[in-house]
Amino acid sequence: MIVVHAIAILQQEIAAWKQNGKTIGLVPTMGALHRGHISLVEKCRTETDCCIVSIFVNPTQFNDQMDYASYPKKFKDDSVMLKEACCDILFAPSEQEMYPAPDTRTFDFGMLDKVMEGRFRPGHFNGVAQIVSKLFQAASPDKAFFGEKDFQQLAIIRALVQQQNCPVEIVGCPIVRESEGLALSSRNARLTIKQRQIATKISQTLTKSYALVSSKTVGETIAFVTEEINAEPSLRVEYFDIVNGNTLQPVTDWNEADYIVGCTAVFCGEVRLIDNITYRKQKTLKNATPPCS
Ligand code: PAJ
Repeated sequence: MIVVHAIAILQQEIAAWKQNGKTIGLVPTMGALHRGHISLVEKCRTETDCCIVSIFVNPTQFNDQMDYASYPKKFKDDSVMLKEACCDILFAPSEQEMYPAPDTRTFDFGMLDKVMEGRFRPGHFNGVAQIVSKLFQAASPDKAFFGEKDFQQLAIIRALVQQQNCPVEIVGCPIVRESEGLALSSRNARLTIKQRQIATKISQTLTKSYALVSSKTVGETIAFVTEEINAEPSLRVEYFDIVNGNTLQPVTDWNEADYIVGCTAVFCGEVRLIDNITYRKQKTLKNATPPCS
């Protein structure tokens, strides 16, 4: 694995791979890596020849400066994990490299970013779109890999590449969880051991709600999830919405769409956690991870 900080060097490296007829995969991250991120790297390795992982804590997507300032940074540990996962290129640019001038672009995602995360984190997805489009320009990947953990982000990236005619295929990857169900997140590092135990209630409640689909209405299911999580004094539901998985607009009936997902953001103390559950779904294909070359 090589570590690259400059876009010009990254592009030289990529050109060499492409000259040899190799395909390029990109896994954008903000570091503080865990098994969830590594699952994306593994998927990338099954589907492309050259695996690039970017680590950049993108300032334009943080609407809360405290959250930005306290975002965990673990570059040394991250590079060890990536080397072990057979990443080919670790791209770790500076803020000056990615934003030599302020990015004034405003993206229009219609209703996709007006709901859920977009409602509670104004400007967040515009910042995500800014950095992801810059990363796509810098790395010109054939495929880019994103987690379903950030379900709305994945839908917005798909809309971004369509709008901008980016020649990159977006690959969604399933949520990786702790054995008790808590979705892995870089922010989990900010939870105490006690809070980690309490936070498992989020995924456990979502799992319980899956069994309600045949007997309860959408409205009753929303009430069940919200009340059950809020019953735990250290947890506070910011939103729990049941939406069409393609349009992200709320559904009122289980038969309203073929793809239905429940998405939530929950505060555990000061730490904001997100999670989701798919109630109805299209099929996905799974590939095995090849050995390191
Ligand atoms: P970050 O939170 O570091 O996440 C990087 C990628 O890892 C995202 O695609 C996210 O969905 C995925 N991921 C995180 N936790 C996961 C889990 N438990 N299981 C599976 N995938 C998981 O998302 C971002 O960074 C940024 O917004 C970024 C896209 C890099 C733009 O700055």
